[in-house]
Amino acid sequence: MNKELKLLFSRKEIAETVARLASEISVDYADKKLVLVGVLKGAFVFLADLVRELTIPATIEFVRIASYGANKESCGKITVTKDVEIPLEGKDVLIIEDIVDTGLSLKFLIEHLRAHHPASLRLCALVDKKARREVEVQVDYTGFAMTDGFIVGYGIDFNEHYRALPEIFVVD
Ligand code: IMP
Ligand code: MG
Repeated sequence: MNKELKLLFSRKEIAETVARLASEISVDYADKKLVLVGVLKGAFVFLADLVRELTIPATIEFVRIASYGANKESCGKITVTKDVEIPLEGKDVLIIEDIVDTGLSLKFLIEHLRAHHPASLRLCALVDKKARREVEVQVDYTGFAMTDGFIVGYGIDFNEHYRALPEIFVVD
């Protein structure tokens, strides 16, 4: 793997953005039963940083959905390969996702989690590629907006490479 990588978001920019999101979430969920549902694997670094900036208690859960396969384009078929393991009924669920692109995965996941009857269900995405949306998905908390380009780093991969990079890069 020696693709050309161009720096897009520095450690400092990411840290400031994560801190901003955490403070918004800490205010909005101050009196709620917050459950963060991280979407594996891409959101693992983002979730880890975000929870440590929260000033309120939160329960951590993970789901894994298979959608992309080993290429850049979504195949459109989505399945849950690892489901939540605690009851979400009556809880205030906040999905933590790395990127919302076409919106297909998140639309599927939102419907899947809604069937657990949470008290509320919202979405926090580190990166929103709004211009690429194919189905409508409401992003309640957005870290960065971007129009085009394929990104890696900070948990986000290209064929399982580059997840450990501390910054976010565009792949050429
Ligand atoms: P969607 O169903 O098209 O919205 O796909 C969203 C998922 O595709 C994200 O959670 C990522 O896992 C993956 N994805 C979308 N864009 C990128 C990218 O630029 N880099 C790496 N993964 C991406
Ligand atoms: Mg993802």
